[in-house]
Amino acid sequence: MAKAPTVKLTSGYDMPVVGLGTYAAKSEPGQFRQAVEWSIDLGYRHIDTASLYGNEEEVGQGIASKIKEGVVKREELFVTTKLWCDRHAEPQVLPSLKESLARLHLDYVDLYLVHWPISMNDKGEDAGIDYLETWKGMEGLVKRGLARSIGVSNFNEEQLDRLLNAANIKPVVNQIEISPTLTQHALVDFCKSRSVVPVAYTPLGLISVAWPEPTGKDIIKTDPKLGELADKYRKSRSQIALKYLLQRGIPVVPKSFTKSRIEENISIFDFDLTEEEIALVDSYNINHRCVPRKESVKFKYFPF
Ligand SMILES: NC(=O)c1ccc[n+]([C@@H]2O[C@H](COP(=O)([O-])OP(=O)(O)OC[C@H]3O[C@@H](n4cnc5c(N)ncnc54)[C@H](OP(=O)(O)O)[C@@H]3O)[C@@H](O)[C@H]2O)c1
Repeated sequence: MAKAPTVKLTSGYDMPVVGLGTYAAKSEPGQFRQAVEWSIDLGYRHIDTASLYGNEEEVGQGIASKIKEGVVKREELFVTTKLWCDRHAEPQVLPSLKESLARLHLDYVDLYLVHWPISMNDKGEDAGIDYLETWKGMEGLVKRGLARSIGVSNFNEEQLDRLLNAANIKPVVNQIEISPTLTQHALVDFCKSRSVVPVAYTPLGLISVAWPEPTGKDIIKTDPKLGELADKYRKSRSQIALKYLLQRGIPVVPKSFTKSRIEENISIFDFDLTEEEIALVDSYNINHRCVPRKESVKFKYFPF
């Protein structure tokens, strides 16, 4: 059974470098619970969810069943959830986390993230709330012991710098889209230079079965050079992509509902890519965002 090593966060806590992602546009009842249960059986100790995903109940059920079975203890798990954009006013932050905790059946989360720097009202329009105000609410959660660490997601360099300069409690991670087809070297380097761990969401990028690109941009799915590299280590293209990110110092949260893929995505600690091989994977970069969030492009704090 594979287990991921951990990275030390500036809060002092350790985060496993592979987590199970749990966003899905479509799902059947019970699929999230099943994926969480399989993942814990297969050695995952890090689960990534969000209030937006509408699955915190099922994620919580999966965690509870594995604790009850004695497979894992709460303190061995690293659970992340996220504040959605319609709860950015400072007084909304505490109730929002409390609602997530109730759905998850947990007393605390290991990591609470501001999901996006943008804010919105209940009609989905730009609320223009400064994320520095939101952050004050986030800091209160640490003081109350409801979130062990706090961080951000989808923040650009300027936004992260502004937050770091104002924060009393620093964000420990910036969860952003990073993959072989969106390598994000500048933002990753900036995060590292400020001791913020960059975490890769949608880490498979255009390799993933979820992103068919009719324009042919998904050459990474078929390029024989990547196939040869995968064959050399008896791994899949996806495993090579995840290992490439880890060797760049970037933890990953791949999502799967498929047991064999959940296993595959954490079975990446028995080989290392060479520098040339890392450069090959890097060469598939086309700066392609799978999650461009174009509908919010006019919002005051839109990051891209
Ligand atoms: N902070 C944010 O704004 C944000 C945004 C997007 C995502 N996220 C987080 O990041 C997680 C991962 O991102 P994502 O779900 O967009 O993308 P992803 O993990 O890169 O790809 C998921 C897709 O790839 C397939 N897949 C998984 N493992 C595979 C493998 N080994 N080989 C081939 N296909 C594989 C899955 O299919 P099956 O499920 O059918 O196996 C699923 O369709 C999310 O679930 C969520 O937790 C965060």
